[in-house]
Amino acid sequence: MEKEVEIKFNGKMYTLPVIKGTEDEMAVDISKLRSDLNLITLDRGYKNTGSTLSSITFLDGEKGILRYRGYAIEELAEKSSFLEVAYLLIYGELPNKNELDNFTNNISEHTLVHEDVKSILDGFPSNSHPMGVLGSLVSSLTAFYPKSLDPNRSSDEINGTIIRAIAKLPTLAAWSFKNRMRQPVVYPDNRLDYCSNFIRMMFSLPTFEYKINPVITKALNKLLILHADHEQNCSASTVRIVGSSHASLYASISAGIAALWGPLHGGANQAVIEMLEEIKQSGGDVDKYISKAKDKSDPFRLMGFGHRVYKSFDPRAKIIKKAAHDVLDQLGINDPVLDIAMRLEKVALNDSYFKTRNLYPNVDFYSGIIYRALGVPTDMFTVMFALGRLPGWIAQWKEMRENNEPIGRPRQVYTGKNYRKYLDINQR
Ligand code: CMC
Repeated sequence: MEKEVEIKFNGKMYTLPVIKGTEDEMAVDISKLRSDLNLITLDRGYKNTGSTLSSITFLDGEKGILRYRGYAIEELAEKSSFLEVAYLLIYGELPNKNELDNFTNNISEHTLVHEDVKSILDGFPSNSHPMGVLGSLVSSLTAFYPKSLDPNRSSDEINGTIIRAIAKLPTLAAWSFKNRMRQPVVYPDNRLDYCSNFIRMMFSLPTFEYKINPVITKALNKLLILHADHEQNCSASTVRIVGSSHASLYASISAGIAALWGPLHGGANQAVIEMLEEIKQSGGDVDKYISKAKDKSDPFRLMGFGHRVYKSFDPRAKIIKKAAHDVLDQLGINDPVLDIAMRLEKVALNDSYFKTRNLYPNVDFYSGIIYRALGVPTDMFTVMFALGRLPGWIAQWKEMRENNEPIGRPRQVYTGKNYRKYLDINQR
């Protein structure tokens, strides 16, 4: 039997349809509520609002399940390459050998950016945060590829725009780091795989050729896969809503980068390491910071803890925690910050404040420890997240356009003044 929801308003009963997803999640369709009843729904922070129907990523926060296009994150992180996952997210299926080769070659051919990008880069002060630089450089791609401004072009042309985004983001990300270091930029080497190419562009110097380390490439590949999509999170929703006004893909991705930057979202990976460093420097008193996090009069939060959707555990955090140990072991690094992280996690998981609120370590709690081990400086961590999230943003944008979704435009409940007569300046 079709399910419905009945609501009573002004003494009358109304029925609202219930929509069921392929994993049996149910949603009340309220789209006619305003035209039929002159009512809107209020849900600050969209905590309980489904903004779209999507077939990209499935997430069950209660059971700790994450799947891209039906494939479990655990299997993808273990067995696939980042470009394979990017293909899966964007085109809906895992590529066969031929499809993956074509995709990879196509990307390799577009890794260079226009020389004028260097002039834009030179305009940024060296202390610019790389996320700000990256967002601006991605937006500047609209100037170099003006045809990309029109999201209604043929699917081949849109695909070209997509390929350029994936190909150029590592170059732009590495160059935003080079600006930070006031070092000359390094050009891509297309003989290398996606992750090695990026790492080499970050760390090579005119006087030093970075030697590819398979441990580092493998760890980066895994991290990028774990970050590749996460359904309607803050940055993906931003990308969709910006794109819904028919803004270009590059403009939408640039907006996604801005949304990701904040410490409650992707910026948490930087904030976690800064927090762990602070705890270490203040003598390693974990209990003091747990108390601070619980104190409602103190703005401090345990960074890397809690999640809007996961209420049992974050499956990405489980994989990353193991990877952090493996990478440190393989590289022979003893990072005291890992010990603090583990102590903090142990205390928090046994504390009723965190237990009753279902607060568990999220993907960002251990990712920064791996980035540090790979030699990535702290303010580049969120850039690494952006690099991983790119296929997700593209897939979300593409789905939204292909489904011809209407412009995103929430409503509000107005709580300001009622009509007031305008007073002349000397009457106020
Ligand atoms: N430390 C201390 N208390 C917390 C924390 C935390 N990290 N997170 C949530 N709480 C408390 C919060 O104070 C509230 O308590 P109460 O019910 O007494 O008012 C309760 O838990 C529910 O929190 P909320 O803020 O209403 O939950 P939310 O869904 O709006 O926020 C969050 C989710 C991720 C923004 C939040 O947990 C947080 O700020 N965490 C720290 C930042 C962080 O690690 N962000 C990365 C998220 S994962 C990467 C990504 O995909 O973006």
